[in-house]
Amino acid sequence: MSFAVAIDGPAAAGKGTVSRAVAAHFGFAHLDTGLLYRAVGFAVLQGTNAVEAAQNLTAEVLENPDLRTPHVADAASKVALIPEVRAALVDFQRAFARRAGGAVLDGRDIGTVICPDAEAKLFVTASAEVRAERRFRELQERGIETSLDEVLADVRARDARDMERAEAPLRPADDAVQIDTSDMTIEQAVATAIAAIEARRGG
Ligand code: DC
Repeated sequence: MSFAVAIDGPAAAGKGTVSRAVAAHFGFAHLDTGLLYRAVGFAVLQGTNAVEAAQNLTAEVLENPDLRTPHVADAASKVALIPEVRAALVDFQRAFARRAGGAVLDGRDIGTVICPDAEAKLFVTASAEVRAERRFRELQERGIETSLDEVLADVRARDARDMERAEAPLRPADDAVQIDTSDMTIEQAVATAIAAIEARRGG
């Protein structure tokens, strides 16, 4: 039996953390769909054509730790504007969503475009300042040199690009449960998400 959980929201809102915790709680598989766009962005930075990269993605490239840098995130949000890139990634995501045993997908357009029939939809947000602060701390811990101002500017630029694009823009599905994590701990955000999904499972 399949059960799809769609978790959308802007960069650094806590989607990844919430998604992994929810997947572990319910025993569902998890797909971070941002990694697909990051892998394409990474390939483009190395001189590959974006559409070709999207059509030839393999599971191994998603494991590359270099995908998790701000430079690649920026490239990802640019290739995500290209309709042919998005189209090339649809089938893989839809098949993942309908795998037996349940699936959690997190991204920008999961509840609206990839999986409009998802059994549960969450939209996880936080203020740009809080998100920049969290991302800044995370980058510092990983030894990546940057400043809070720079991270805030990046977050705002990526928000604008993700929300204002013509194709599959970032927006909550009409039936998504919105969770603002600005003033929540990780534990509170995860508990809120689990409760919302339990409600959709019928108790
Ligand atoms: O979630 P993330 O920060 O890893 O995503 C990187 C970029 O990929 C994001 O800025 C926009 C794009 N993206 C998208 O367009 N649709 C998705 N479902 C996931 C990510």
